[in-house]
Amino acid sequence: MLSSVSQTSGPPPVHIAIIMDGNGRWAKARGLPRTAGHKKGVEAVRTALTAAQELGVRYLTLYSFSTENWSRPQDEVSALMQLLRFYLRGEIASLHKNNVRVRIIGERSRLSADIQSMVEHAETLTAGNTGLTLVLALSYGGRPELVTATRRIAEAVQSGRLALDDIDDSVVSSHLFTAGIPDPDLVIRTSGEKRISNFLLWQMAYAELVFLDTLWPDFSKRDLEDAIEEFHRRDRRYGASAGSR
Ligand code: IPE
Ligand code: IPE
Ligand code: MG
Repeated sequence: MLSSVSQTSGPPPVHIAIIMDGNGRWAKARGLPRTAGHKKGVEAVRTALTAAQELGVRYLTLYSFSTENWSRPQDEVSALMQLLRFYLRGEIASLHKNNVRVRIIGERSRLSADIQSMVEHAETLTAGNTGLTLVLALSYGGRPELVTATRRIAEAVQSGRLALDDIDDSVVSSHLFTAGIPDPDLVIRTSGEKRISNFLLWQMAYAELVFLDTLWPDFSKRDLEDAIEEFHRRDRRYGASAGSR
């Protein structure tokens, strides 16, 4: 149980990443179709984004659709894609007005052509913005991302652009979909599940993990504050001895 006192102390984490889980269970508890939970989940995205901006977070990554989610029933996948269209169409202008920079990570070639052009438009339009960076993980999986990066690095070596000995952490990082984005400091998963589900495998090496029981459609600013408060209680040691830093 997290403390009920919701004051955050110290600077906010620079980068918060969220595994937005529990839409289906939220709907089921109300006798509604799963898609009703996804719809309500979009409202929670707005809540989370506004709260993150108010709390001074610089990067917010939202796990919106995983590579594994493609294997859900076709009607659920279609409904999710329709909601994504709806969100992008309705929100891009106001995100831009709010100085938000949008980045998409994932296997975008698996998205339909119209969604691909919408996300490209969102990225291009907001590229110069200096406020919060909103990273949407769409058709994203940590393993496919590492496979893609490995191929790109191998190509660079094969063509002579990169020496084998020069491959280090920063070379790997710069070949990931998240190139240029700092690693997450705090990863939150809602819905009570305590697993990573193929999210940011490389990037969350030293992230603090906070698991909340809240189902994603119920996510509130208070939940974000609670998670940040928990983050501040943690001692990030990065492998050093306790108390030595
Ligand atoms: C998260 O909610 C949304 C996506 C994964 C797209 P779920 O749809 O996984 O909801 P639960 O986990 O079944 O409750
Ligand atoms: C993880 O949730 C993916 C997203 C939140 C987009 P899932 O509901 O798909 O994950 P599992 O199946 O519980 O691991
Ligand atoms: Mg789920």
